[in-house]
Amino acid sequence: MLFGLFKRNKPATAPADFSFLGVDMHSHLAPAVDDGSDSVETSLELLRGFMEMGYRKIITTPHTRPEMFPNTQAELRASFERLRPAIASLPIEVEMASEYFVDYEFLQQQDINNLLTFAGKHLLIELSTYQAPPNLFDTIFQLKIKGYQLILAHPERYGYYSSDFEQFEKLKDFGCQFQVNLLSLTGNYGKPTKELAMKFFKHNMVDFLGTDMHNVKHLEGLKAMLHDGKLMHFLQGYEFKNAKLLG
Ligand SMILES: [Fe+2]
Repeated sequence: MLFGLFKRNKPATAPADFSFLGVDMHSHLAPAVDDGSDSVETSLELLRGFMEMGYRKIITTPHTRPEMFPNTQAELRASFERLRPAIASLPIEVEMASEYFVDYEFLQQQDINNLLTFAGKHLLIELSTYQAPPNLFDTIFQLKIKGYQLILAHPERYGYYSSDFEQFEKLKDFGCQFQVNLLSLTGNYGKPTKELAMKFFKHNMVDFLGTDMHNVKHLEGLKAMLHDGKLMHFLQGYEFKNAKLLG
């Protein structure tokens, strides 16, 4: 038995795939710009995997993280343009935004009037997995003033807040929606991460599920999840906002 929570809202049969989500809004499929897909061929393989798993739309989100992946918005767009002809005939919608690393310098380093967003002004942000920047809430406030609808990527990976859960509640109060990684639920990022993810479910704090797909190993992990009937039952019984991004 994985979690007692999985007993709730049990539908008659487990879903065979992730078509109940429809849209994935966190992945790294722009070729050779970050630690995700290294080539057009790999991106194609991962996209075919998404189709097999029932997804109809992919909003891919290569990293914007100056010290680790020093690419510009123009470079991200150029990478995506290399992918575009190869996927034109695929029966899946693909667009690109970015996953922005919010650190102490974010407001100085980025032109916050011109960020890569999706579905209007949805903005995917991530934090360090070691510590949050001391000016986090001020940064979030500045972004909100600009009209961005913030989605916090994998909050379950920010374990430094797990002993101070009110910080997560404060993030929600500041308007951040939470996107949990599917693979966090399998223990892919460790037991504490899995437990924190389940705590978000318990507190009804999860808005989106994302794959955070970087590579074929992630794809295999996601496909394996489809065989976990209890987990799939549970996920189907929860209301996610992914499908609202179908547009
Ligand atoms: Fe990511």
